[in-house]
Amino acid sequence: MSAPGPASPEIHGGNLEAAARRLGCRPDQLLDASASLVPFAPPWRLRRALGRALAPAALRPYPDRGYAGLRAAIASLHGLDPAWVLPGNGAAELFTWAARDAAAVGVSLLPAPGFADYRRALACWGGQARSLALPLEWQGAGPLPWPWGHGAAPEAAAGRAAVADQHDSTALWITNPHNPTGQLWSRASLEPLLARHRLVICDEAFLPLVPGGEAQSLLPLVAGHPNLVVIRSLTKLFAIAGLRLGYAVAAPERLARWSGWRDPWPVNGLAAAAGEALLADRRGYARWCARVQGWAEREGAWLSAGIGALEGLVPLPSSANFLLVRGERQGRPLALEPLRLALERQHRILLRDCRSFEGLDASWVRIGLQDRRGNRRLLRGLSREWRPG
Ligand SMILES: Cc1ncc(COP(=O)(O)O)c(C=O)c1O
Repeated sequence: MSAPGPASPEIHGGNLEAAARRLGCRPDQLLDASASLVPFAPPWRLRRALGRALAPAALRPYPDRGYAGLRAAIASLHGLDPAWVLPGNGAAELFTWAARDAAAVGVSLLPAPGFADYRRALACWGGQARSLALPLEWQGAGPLPWPWGHGAAPEAAAGRAAVADQHDSTALWITNPHNPTGQLWSRASLEPLLARHRLVICDEAFLPLVPGGEAQSLLPLVAGHPNLVVIRSLTKLFAIAGLRLGYAVAAPERLARWSGWRDPWPVNGLAAAAGEALLADRRGYARWCARVQGWAEREGAWLSAGIGALEGLVPLPSSANFLLVRGERQGRPLALEPLRLALERQHRILLRDCRSFEGLDASWVRIGLQDRRGNRRLLRGLSREWRPG
């Protein structure tokens, strides 16, 4: 398989090293709006914990095979028993094991456009997948009703039929809020799905960044539903993509089975120490989330208004820390690819190329929110380079 180049869209944002090589600059000269991470440095307690974990005596031993400290911290944060929690080498590693269960159930239903890694994980086990076409029009950022629930819009009828069709042998993958659209699904509309699907995997990687998002989490439903898996990630919330840390919350029997399948120490000692420091301090975690959500709300409104003021650029309503933007004039799509490339070349700004998302083409880009300085730079670049056809 050849590496993605300029002609083949990246299947993930945040490829800073490769972009810097391509553009002949240093990675720190780039403004990366292609991945959607919090733009400020992680909390001090993380850096303190990493400093301690770097001492030779701390580096020497293997990590605790049961990750007791980290599991206790995650469990106490969510008011759970540690047996219901499993840390992973990023959410991505946990998708691999969720996909093994999903493949055993039957067909996986995947809203499209959606996050590509679920398909990667399913492909590991020869799992079958079927797309549910997400209607690309909606009002307000949410909480919104799940599009294939009862009383959903007529455009979703085909998807609803696909769901009703095969409910005994289906695994449903939910992303809340959804990537790349930023739609926040309401818990009330998701709860009935647990009776309809043999397995429901809910990826809440972005949920702690969403103002009011926790009220829509499925975490409180896990204890009563052995067919539910909730997966979270620390990547976006703490801007620590390189450390690789996420966790699953699900029935202990399921998690014990996954533990038997994986490598003996999937989470390295530095990531485990970081996770423990970040999550054991509940008040510190709550303060951090409040700061992040305040930023997402403020900058989301500011950037969306600025982009929306440019003729032919339509930012869709988003509850997340990224905006899906459509190029459109008089109802006809406008290609945004030249704009994306001009921003890269002239301004060293990376936007997420959306062509690798099923159902999206070159008339879409996804833009991760930055701090105000970064958002100003973004808007300046867009204003200079955008020529609406
Ligand atoms: C919806 C969603 N879930 C999960 C992840 C991956 O999280 P992690 O870095 O913890 O593997 C991403 C990364 O882009 C994502 O967009």
